Amino acid sequence: MIKIFRLKNIISIKDFNREDIEYILEEASKLEDIAQSRKISEELKGKILGLMFFEPSTRTKMSFETAMKRLGGQEIGFENSGSSSVSKGESIADTAKMFEGYCDALVIRHELEGVSKFISDVVNVPVINAGDGAGQHPTQTLLDLYTIKKEIGKLDDLKIALIGDLKYGRTVHSLSNALTLFNNIKIYLVSPKELKMPQEILHDLNKTNVEYEEVENIEKVIDDVDVLYVTRIQKERFIDVDDYLKIKGAYIINKKMLEGKDLIVMHPLPRIDEIDTNVDNTKYNKYFAQAANAVPVRMAILKTLIKNNPK
Ligand code: CP
Repeated sequence: MIKIFRLKNIISIKDFNREDIEYILEEASKLEDIAQSRKISEELKGKILGLMFFEPSTRTKMSFETAMKRLGGQEIGFENSGSSSVSKGESIADTAKMFEGYCDALVIRHELEGVSKFISDVVNVPVINAGDGAGQHPTQTLLDLYTIKKEIGKLDDLKIALIGDLKYGRTVHSLSNALTLFNNIKIYLVSPKELKMPQEILHDLNKTNVEYEEVENIEKVIDDVDVLYVTRIQKERFIDVDDYLKIKGAYIINKKMLEGKDLIVMHPLPRIDEIDTNVDNTKYNKYFAQAANAVPVRMAILKTLIKNNPK
């Protein structure tokens, strides 16, 4: 394993190489005992994390808060622009500079692609992209990879179906990019034609050894995959709600479809109806474990970035 983590900011998973990913996953695995036994360490005692959430979040925000608390640190922030002076017209750059004065690292979620990168250019503390519009969600990808490694035991030689909203789904964009760093990967891109994976991501895949196939039908791939990675059709990304209603419910995974299969079901959550709740009490359900894995993985990210970049 590499001794020093190279990156100061986590903006896009495309900035990572395989060693960078393995570094965070190994750190996470060392921190899992603290996360699972619900202890508090003193690794980041006296440090403060800034949370700038312009877009709603349950898991990402709460798991960053939990991770910081478990490391002995504290956090400040807002969960919508209405509760900050952005609502009075203050610029994002000025707001970020205020946070820089108060905090040791910033976590940003915004509905526009590129906002985290923009902020990382105007502050000197580490910046973490917690999801930027339909762009990237790199820390989600790290916990997704951690979950796959934990549940299946490897990150090479895998067949993964990415299902649902591949057009706007930042989690599947980041995960597709990350999978290019591993060997012998096949990705099935399962979506309605209106929500196909963007050309930019396909272009990234074409430059690598990853094999991929675009299909519209889950039944065509379900017997062949190790992981079904299901995503929500995101109503908030559609300009015309009628377009959303036409596609809503296009893919619903249920217990019967999974019986006898050797695979796991993952989902970044939130779920609407794309995984029937009758899957929840089966061995296939790894989506709640995936959400819990956010804590050790985000602990590893915060510990690494804050310790490597003291103010
Ligand atoms: N997976 C995820 O990003 O969930 P939240 O939107 O609740 O943070």
